[in-house]
Amino acid sequence: MATTGYRVLAPQDLGKDLLARQFALDVLNGLQESPKRIPSRWFYDDEGSRIFQEICDLPEYYLTRAETEILERYAPAMMRRASGDALDVVDLGAGDGRKTGIVLQAALAHARDVQYVPIDISEGAMAGLVAQMGTQFPQLHISGIVGDYADALHYFSRGKTRPTLALFLGSNIGNFDYPAARLFLRDMWEGLNHGDLLLVGFDRKKDISRLLAAYADPKGVTARFDLNVLARINRELGGEFDLKRFDYHCVYNPVLGAIEAYLVSRERQSVRVAALGRAFEFEAWEPIHLEYSFKYNPTDVHHLARATGYEVVSEFTDSHEHFIDSLWRVRKHG
Ligand code: TRP
Repeated sequence: MATTGYRVLAPQDLGKDLLARQFALDVLNGLQESPKRIPSRWFYDDEGSRIFQEICDLPEYYLTRAETEILERYAPAMMRRASGDALDVVDLGAGDGRKTGIVLQAALAHARDVQYVPIDISEGAMAGLVAQMGTQFPQLHISGIVGDYADALHYFSRGKTRPTLALFLGSNIGNFDYPAARLFLRDMWEGLNHGDLLLVGFDRKKDISRLLAAYADPKGVTARFDLNVLARINRELGGEFDLKRFDYHCVYNPVLGAIEAYLVSRERQSVRVAALGRAFEFEAWEPIHLEYSFKYNPTDVHHLARATGYEVVSEFTDSHEHFIDSLWRVRKHG
């Protein structure tokens, strides 16, 4: 007898193929726009995630150290805002997890039953993270999700009832412009329950020379990080980018309050990408826009929280006042 019916594919069924298709589409669309652009989430393949860890260790990249200082000092205070004996710590873009480790330590001291839910777009980074956290915290339940934030959050939050502390650390929010940041925070809000907590990292507006130094280090690690996205197109989409024919360039736009990162074509050239079945033309000195990194004042942070349905519970800064970790509570009623 014939069987009929259908099956709704869940994110775990689509997994990597879906990401590969989205990458191809984003590159195809982005390189046809004017100015050309490649969305920054594609920086973080296994190689990109490794190079980004190098950036975090650079003396000029003050962000990671500032936030580490905040967490070491205040994570226990943050935990006192979480209710009950059970806690899910959802971690968006954990990277190597060093900062998360500080939070988890405090969480385990505070709650009996802690589950760790890392979300990361790089499977290599995830595998390393899960192994490392499992060793460091044997009593921790770990249930990671490889995927982009929106898909993973949606998948995770269906039917969720346990109290949650979501982490969005390290100035990841800065890589969205304001409308996209609002949309993202509202998506988070949808996936969380009334009373859940969200800890968001913001890099503060500050002396421009310090900002620029953090995004254009003399050793060229940041340049390597950005050029890796072209190398990734070569690896995964059969691209023929010659990395030596592109320069990394970054500026601070004081009107936007954002670092803007570009790759610039050193010459007129045509670059084939086999998987896309076409070539892309570059004029001499034509830019590809890669990234914004928006910087915030404390008042900007408060506006953003209120506009997206959160109450600011408390705010933590480092001794140099370079960085803010802002702790928000989801408000759905009362
Ligand atoms: N989230 C990081 C930040 O905004 C990403 C980043 C660091 C980055 N250095 C970069 C992005 C250089 C593009 C170029 O700080």
